[in-house]
Amino acid sequence: MPRITVLPGDGIGPEVAGEAVRVLNAVGERFGFEPTLTYALVGGAALDEFDTPLPEPTFEACKAADAVLLGAIGGPRWDHETGDRRCEAALLGLRKRLGVFANLRPVLVPAGLSGQSPVRADRVDGTDILIVRELTGGIYFGAPRKLSAATASNTMVYHASEIRRIARVAFAWAEKRRGRVTSVDKANVLEVSQLWRRVVTQVHREEFAHLALDHLYVDNAAMQLVLRPGRFDVILTGNLFGDILSDLAATLPGSLGLLPSASLGGQIGLFEPVHGSAPDIAGLGIANPAGIMLSAAMMLDALDLSDAAHAVRSGVLAALGLGVRTRDLGGTASTGDFANAVISHIRASALAAA
Ligand code: NAD
Ligand code: IPM
Ligand code: MN
Repeated sequence: MPRITVLPGDGIGPEVAGEAVRVLNAVGERFGFEPTLTYALVGGAALDEFDTPLPEPTFEACKAADAVLLGAIGGPRWDHETGDRRCEAALLGLRKRLGVFANLRPVLVPAGLSGQSPVRADRVDGTDILIVRELTGGIYFGAPRKLSAATASNTMVYHASEIRRIARVAFAWAEKRRGRVTSVDKANVLEVSQLWRRVVTQVHREEFAHLALDHLYVDNAAMQLVLRPGRFDVILTGNLFGDILSDLAATLPGSLGLLPSASLGGQIGLFEPVHGSAPDIAGLGIANPAGIMLSAAMMLDALDLSDAAHAVRSGVLAALGLGVRTRDLGGTASTGDFANAVISHIRASALAAA
């Protein structure tokens, strides 16, 4: 039985995580497993209760699990905090301590949804991109970092070994997909990017020369994502650029609420939607839970429960296809309505298979 630690977090985090858990239980029933769920606090919820956004018992609960499913952290109530007391620092600490350096962010435009995109349907139709974002290095973690009244600084550092291991992840995925990696950097300005480009080119030449590799500067990559999303297969990039490009890529299917992610590379995977705690809609029951449900599907895949993963994905696609859509996608469905539609599909497909 898979042991899953659920970190609902803040804002819409608990709303979407609750519905994802209902879906996990439904799919468990369908495929004969019962997830053992442990809940723990992280982010603002943990700060309120334990005076730290990543309490040790929370981290211990993550270490004791087979996988971690996270809602979202942060919000205006805690934005005055600095340093390690920031909610965001807890998430970074969790990623670092779990060693999950490879963040996979698939961007697909489900059939029938291209009309939701602000980008013309004929450009977004058929989009199928995998963003491979380095997650435990770069400017997010580089030292020194400092904030004073007069100056502030951060440091962007990448070691060749960090670039090499994330490049291998990207090429390995490209091998299973359409065989093309686009590495995104800012090598025209940053030394860090010059090393990035050198190492990626070397890994390609020495280990993956049968695949296609090209390089784009991040400013151009942002423009190409909107102009010609179909040109991309796997995008390989660093922590900061990957963060920004993935939110931008969410405009292709039409909502940030749709994008899932898997953070891998350590013993325990961390599965989290790409979106944040959405303070503007928190508490209204209208958040789109598709992103966390698809993250749960990535988690089931990682746990070797691929039939269950497939059932969750097809449930989400079926619900969207039936027009059960939350407000971000122009619909009127609540978070719970969407989950009900996914669960009905999972149960109906069980009956059909019986
Ligand atoms: P956000 O992703 O929370 O929201 C951006 C916009 O997208 C908002 O208009 C929001 O309503 C909408 N949105 C996001 N998820 C949605 C969903 N599931 N359904 C419908 N609409 C959705 O980004 P933000 O407003 O810049 O940040 C809010 C807080 O979240 C900040 O504290 C930030 O640090 C945090 N954050 C956390 C994570 C995480 O936990 N992984 C990720 C990003 C941001
Ligand atoms: C994300 C988020 C996080 C990040 C924040 C909340 C630390 O934006 O997962 O995309 O920047 O990595
Ligand atoms: Mn982000």
